[in-house]
Amino acid sequence: PGTPEAPVAELPAENTRQTISKEVTILYGSQTGNAQGLANNAGKTLEGRGFQVTISSMSDFKPNNLKKVQNLLIVVSTHGEGDPPDNALSFHEFLHGRRAPKLDDLRFSVLSLGDSSYEFFCETGKQFDKRLEELGGDRIASRVDCDLDFDEPAAEWIESVLNGLSEAQVEGSAAAPAAAGTAAAGETIYSRTNPFYAEVLENLNLNGRGSNKETRHLEISLEGSGLTYQPGDALGIYPQNDPELVNELIQALNSNPDETVTINKQGDIRSLREAFTSHYEITVLTKPLLEKIAQLTDIDELHELISSGNEDKLKDYIEGRDLLDVVKDFGPFGISSQEFSDLLRKMPARLYSIASSLTSNPDEVHVTIGAVRYTTHGRDRNGVCSVLCADRLELGDTLPVYIQHNQNFKLPENPDTPIIMVGPGTGIAPFRSFMQEREEIGTEGKSWLFFGDQHFVTDFLYQTEWQKWLKDGVLTKMDVAFSRDTDEKVYVQHRMLEHSKELFEWLEQGASLYVCGDEKNMAHDVQNTLIDIIEKEGNMSREKAEAYVADMQQQKRYQRDVY
Ligand code: 2AM
Repeated sequence: PGTPEAPVAELPAENTRQTISKEVTILYGSQTGNAQGLANNAGKTLEGRGFQVTISSMSDFKPNNLKKVQNLLIVVSTHGEGDPPDNALSFHEFLHGRRAPKLDDLRFSVLSLGDSSYEFFCETGKQFDKRLEELGGDRIASRVDCDLDFDEPAAEWIESVLNGLSEAQVEGSAAAPAAAGTAAAGETIYSRTNPFYAEVLENLNLNGRGSNKETRHLEISLEGSGLTYQPGDALGIYPQNDPELVNELIQALNSNPDETVTINKQGDIRSLREAFTSHYEITVLTKPLLEKIAQLTDIDELHELISSGNEDKLKDYIEGRDLLDVVKDFGPFGISSQEFSDLLRKMPARLYSIASSLTSNPDEVHVTIGAVRYTTHGRDRNGVCSVLCADRLELGDTLPVYIQHNQNFKLPENPDTPIIMVGPGTGIAPFRSFMQEREEIGTEGKSWLFFGDQHFVTDFLYQTEWQKWLKDGVLTKMDVAFSRDTDEKVYVQHRMLEHSKELFEWLEQGASLYVCGDEKNMAHDVQNTLIDIIEKEGNMSREKAEAYVADMQQQKRYQRDVY
């Protein structure tokens, strides 16, 4: 059953029997766009097999329509400490609340994205999966939890969903044959799985001498790629590991750098040095990785570390350590280089918010990258991509890149809508893109920047550009907070609070508010301050002010790009 034979439409009417619905609803919750991309892929595959697919962001989906859905696919990522993406928040809350409907006729399946180096791996997907079952739904296919390298497990999930849907198909309702996919004219061939090797045109340190920070400004050529982007999109970069770290790791493993290993299912072969440099992630430890190493070895200390009851000790060990630490502490393991490299995750791309507008920089993309350097457990550690850019990337070199479109961080459709931008540190990047774009198209819309960093003299990123925009009126207002120039720390949210009356007026006039930068502390504190401001200036209860913000979020007037 389910073998594609003839299009449904060609079946004689009297042959049409009661069948399982061919309608499938796909809902995604996506912060950076990966879940959205996978939802779209799933949609295309299902349409190719004759299903009628509706794809929607969870925030655009009317929860009351859930009762009408028969086949539901959920694609959702998890952030921070097990949190749903912003555009999944309201739907997540609805489903877990008292008003959630009984869903006895629902069939569903969940694809969850996450990062196994976090404790609450794929938590949001797990919650949806559990909750839909509680509400009465039956699974079309089991949930699949994907780690950073999600392509293969996601493809397997789609296959099992297709099997699950076809099994339920009554004979005579066979799906239509797969429609050949055609790329729209002008579409690029480059993507996350087929990156473009882009030339580096400029690579500057934006911080002045004496700064605690090093923030790189990169200009990259997209010429000949066909790649395009909008303000708010991100650039994906595939970095290489530090060659010294790679050498040390190979030495610690007692392996030969020129030995070859197979790096994927297609059977591609690389030297161990190349594999560790470009293909595998070697700087992040995860619990599943330690468990897999333990399974292949009989090292008592390692088995003890991962044994149940030792969770806190294990968390402590993983914190701030990398693969080289594990090999030095417990290895070498006496397993082959092939066995060892098979345990590793693929090198994930790093996403950076784009700092330029394509309209004002044809064929170019700019990014703002903070160099990450610190010392833990007696060794200096470097951010893989940021320090590659800071220390080893020359003009004329190429980087494998792609564009990650982000529908969750977009300028208002109406160029005259006022915007408020909160972006301390590298969080400034997308706002440079916003201003370039608005300067280019010409706009009546007011704009207000809140920027912060450590010191005015060394850390005011793109200072002259901001001052020029302010002078020319492209930027209406600018408030800055330099946290370490005064005895007491001042942050962007303090500046917002100082201007609470005017800020609330802007919101009441329909302004959109954007926050970009550090998630854990800044974005959190800024959101609380925002609620404070609305509570105070709008004379509202806390609950009402929170609802005001939730409403802004729903209307896409409060958007965050946080990391
Ligand atoms: P600090 O490092 O001096 O504490 C960009 O990194 C800027 O964001 C810095 O000035 C930094 O201040 C500041 N920052 C740190 N924590 C913050 C928070 N919770 N809210 C807002 N800004 C913060």
